[in-house]
Amino acid sequence: MKKMMTAAVSLVAGLTLVACGTGDKDAAIAPLDKIKEKGTLVVATSPDYAPFEFQTLVDGKNKVVGADILMAEKIAEKLGVKLEVSSMSFDNVLNSVQNGKADIAIAGLSVSEDRMKVFDFSDAYYHVQDVLLVKKDGASSYTSTDSLAGKKVAVQKGTTQEVYAKENLKDASIISLTQMGEAINELKSGQVDAVLLDSPVALGYASQNKDLAVADIKFPETDANTKAIVMPKDSGSLKEEIDKIVKELVETGEYENYLKEVANYTAVE
Ligand code: ARG
Repeated sequence: MKKMMTAAVSLVAGLTLVACGTGDKDAAIAPLDKIKEKGTLVVATSPDYAPFEFQTLVDGKNKVVGADILMAEKIAEKLGVKLEVSSMSFDNVLNSVQNGKADIAIAGLSVSEDRMKVFDFSDAYYHVQDVLLVKKDGASSYTSTDSLAGKKVAVQKGTTQEVYAKENLKDASIISLTQMGEAINELKSGQVDAVLLDSPVALGYASQNKDLAVADIKFPETDANTKAIVMPKDSGSLKEEIDKIVKELVETGEYENYLKEVANYTAVE
């Protein structure tokens, strides 16, 4: 009987050690090695943000396209793995990198101090400004952020614009919405007075909606105007490899070409 008990204890101990070992082993795998082992790069994005990532109809089917998606394809190609684009609402994009469901996030993401505490960022691949999208017939009344007193300003939940608006537009009512398209619809229907968002996206909506315009208000330039790719903290060789690819795309003008290429697509909700 004693021998059987000893064997059982050894077996449990052995299994426990293996389990711990497996767990530690998985946690110890460098992000780049994990991606190469899987053979797939999972990229989290929120396809409601043309020209960076948005949905369009290709042969009657919804497809996620955009300059960021073309960049993701290039990164996967250079790493020698398949690309899996994981679409979700923007306020879930960073969580999916943090919980390991996605390897990286490319979603028109801006650099911010808060985010840098939790994630690694690639080198910058683009620069934008924060702008205010309003109804064209009232655009001239918006001359500074003081003009927003008493107004309803929509922002996308989880964005740097949401943080900026809540901290700086104290006299406005800040309405946080999950989908960018929802914010635009609320603006068009008069439910909100303005939408705060990235400049290229606002210009796209203004060009497709003759009743909308970008207000002539200058918002402060901060790190949040620099776009970069989000990776887990201390990504090491993954960051090194992605930075090399981003540097090439920026220096050759290839990312700018991606923006021109996707300008021909029409975004669908
Ligand atoms: N640049 C802003 C940020 O990083 C907004 C990004 C929204 N992106 C999107 N795919 N909806 O918070």
